[in-house]
Amino acid sequence: MYRIAVIPGDGTGPEQTAEAVKVLRAVAAREGFGVDIATLDWGGDRYLRTGEVLPADALDLLRGFDAILLGAIGHPRVPPGILEQGILLRIRFGLDQYINLRPVKLYPGVETPLKDKGPEDIDFVVVRENTEGLYAGAGGFLKKGTPDEVAVQESINTRRGVERCLRWAFEYCRRRNRRKKLTLVAKTNVLTFASDLWERTFREVGKEYPDVEQEYMHVDAACMWMVKNPENFDVIVTDNMFGDIITDLGAIIQGGMGVAAGGNINPQGVSMFEPIGGSAPKYAGKNVINPLAAILAMMMMLDHLGQEAAARRVENAVMAVCRDHLRSMAAGQMGYSTSEVGDLVVRYL
Ligand code: IPM
Ligand code: MN
Repeated sequence: MYRIAVIPGDGTGPEQTAEAVKVLRAVAAREGFGVDIATLDWGGDRYLRTGEVLPADALDLLRGFDAILLGAIGHPRVPPGILEQGILLRIRFGLDQYINLRPVKLYPGVETPLKDKGPEDIDFVVVRENTEGLYAGAGGFLKKGTPDEVAVQESINTRRGVERCLRWAFEYCRRRNRRKKLTLVAKTNVLTFASDLWERTFREVGKEYPDVEQEYMHVDAACMWMVKNPENFDVIVTDNMFGDIITDLGAIIQGGMGVAAGGNINPQGVSMFEPIGGSAPKYAGKNVINPLAAILAMMMMLDHLGQEAAARRVENAVMAVCRDHLRSMAAGQMGYSTSEVGDLVVRYL
C-alpha cells in the first residue's frame, strides 16, 4: 500500500493528474498493490481565496507520504514567482529533493523537430541539481527603484551539494547501464568559481567510477550538440539553472511538453514527480491537454517506489498509444481528448 499525495495545482494540472491517477489505479489493480491517494488543493485558486500559498504544516504533511504527484503550478491572476517559489521551490528545497531527474527519450511514433533523428538517437537523461545554484534565492537589491539600482543574484554552490549530486549521477549512470557515459555540463571558461568547484569535484569523485566514461562540456556547446548529435549523450549532470534551460531543449527534441516528465528526488526522503510543461492556462478545462507527460511522471514515481514491473507496463502502454493512436503530441491536435488518451493507456496496460 502506497500513500500518494496528489497536488493537481493550476490550469491544466487537474486534468492531467486525473488521467495519471486513473492509470495508477488501473496498474495497481493489475500488479497487485494498493494506493491510498490524498488530494491537496494547493495552487493559485486557493491562494487567491485564502491569501495563503501553502498551509503552515504543508511540509510535515508531505513527509507522511511515500511520494507526491504534482500537476502544474502557475496562475494567470497571480504575479510570477509567488506560486513557483511558494509552492514548487518550497517543496523541492523543504524536502531536500536535491536531484531533478529528466529523461529525454523519443518514443516511436512521436515527432521530433530534429531532422533525420529517431528513437535510437534520442535517449538520454539529465540529472539537474535541484536545491542550490541561482535558485537558492541569495542576493538582493540596493537602491531599488532609483537610477542607481543594483540587483545581485548569487549562485550558491556548496561542496556537499555538488558532491552528492555528482555521486548520485555516477551511480545512476551505472544503474542505467547503457553507454555508461557521464557528461558534466558547466561553464568553466567564465564561471571560474562555481564551475571550477563542479569540475574539480567531478574529477575527484570520478576516480571512484573508472567504469564510467567521463566527459566535460560547456553549456553553450552542449545545446548545440543536443541538437546535432543527441545520440552522443547518455547521462548529463549539471547545475540548477543550466539544467532548467537544457531540459526545455531536451523536452522539445523528445516531442514536446506533452510527453516530458521529471522527478524531484530525495534519495533518503519523499520525492515528487511532475509533468514539466507548466499549467497551460489557455487550454484549461477544455479536455484537450496531452496527459502523457503526467502519466509518465507517475511512471517515474512507480519506478522510484520500486514497482519496476508496473512502471514498464505503463511505459509500454504509453508507447503503444503514441505509436498507434495519437496524431500529434500537441494539445488539441492529438485526435483524442485528454480523458480518451488516459482511457487508451489503461486499455494497453
Ligand atoms: C521547471 C520549471 C520551474 C524551474 C519553474 C516553474 C520555477 O521551469 O521545473 O523546470 O525553473 O525549475
Ligand atoms: Mn524549467
